[in-house]
Amino acid sequence: MEWPMQVTVWEVGPRDGLQNEAAFLATEDKIAWIHMLADAGVSHLEVSSFVSPRWIPQLADADEVCAHLPRDRGIVYAALVPNLQGLERARQAALDVAAIFLSASETHSQRNINKGVAPALAQYRALTETAVAGGMRVRAYISTVFGCPYEGEVDVDTVRRIALTLLEAGVYEVSLGDTIGVATPRSTEAVLSSLLRDIRPAQLALHMHDTRGAALANLVVGLQHGIAVMDSSLGGLGGCPYAPGAAGNVATDDLVRMLHGCSVVTGIDEGLLAKAGAFVAERLHTTLASKMSRVYAGGAGS
Ligand code: HMG
Ligand code: MG
Repeated sequence: MEWPMQVTVWEVGPRDGLQNEAAFLATEDKIAWIHMLADAGVSHLEVSSFVSPRWIPQLADADEVCAHLPRDRGIVYAALVPNLQGLERARQAALDVAAIFLSASETHSQRNINKGVAPALAQYRALTETAVAGGMRVRAYISTVFGCPYEGEVDVDTVRRIALTLLEAGVYEVSLGDTIGVATPRSTEAVLSSLLRDIRPAQLALHMHDTRGAALANLVVGLQHGIAVMDSSLGGLGGCPYAPGAAGNVATDDLVRMLHGCSVVTGIDEGLLAKAGAFVAERLHTTLASKMSRVYAGGAGS
């Protein structure tokens, strides 16, 4: 299959990137960072989570962050929504997309949302119908698609059943999560080949964590299958607090460099992206994991 000429980079840094950080990034710094990401040309941004602040204290300021988003650029804004309470908060915040999330494995589901897979799927089905009827688009994450930190291998037919149920309920896109970064090009190939028998490439996105360094290689397999939406976090920040050993997402700066190097359009300015990365690293008192942040720190960015 021809590679897509354009890829939507779905920036999850302000959500997935921050939810696992030990430090709380100050609300005004979150807002400033989101404005810098918008300036860099990011078109799809997951800005926070409308989950329980007791479960994810790092994002307890979601409502405040959403009140200060740059709304004049046509950016699609999303946040995680675990239940009707979260959906109501997303509505109040006038977000474009509610991002629901569930696991393909029972133990991760219990640890992450305090519910098993079947009740979570039933609840999300109803929530999706309510959200769509109210004019909100719904995107769904399926976690542990390529492996579970508690249970190991996950059956692709379980993933297919969850994805088809959610698409039928009105979800417009399913993002396949490699929550703990165990996927390989070969397993990515196997999962995509299997799902694409029933699902169109335009209905799928890839959400690869880079724990073992294979995320970019896996995304190339995605490109070969026509997947044109890829989730990433600037600098490679991130991880799931309820998945031991989970490292950050594939780094947006590395992904964008690879795509641009392959003449795939993203609409993102790499220099401004690097500035946004340097800003958040400084505010978090950390060093980013991305290769490109080191290239820029070494002065070889241009
Ligand atoms: P629960 O304790 O079973 O919920 O948690 P509950 O309904 O019994 O409510 C307990 C308390 O939470 C109540 O407050 C509710 O009001 C409050 P209290 O009366 O005790 O003061 N609450 C809320 N507050 C604000 N907003 C809400 C909300 N809902 C309840 N929406 C729940 C169930 C789902 C809420 C909880 O487990 C939770 O918040 N989990 C979120 C966990 C999370 O965010 N994990 C990380 C994201 S997933 C991920 O990273 C994977 C992903 O990146 C893809 C991948 O990599 O694979 C997406
Ligand atoms: Mg994730």
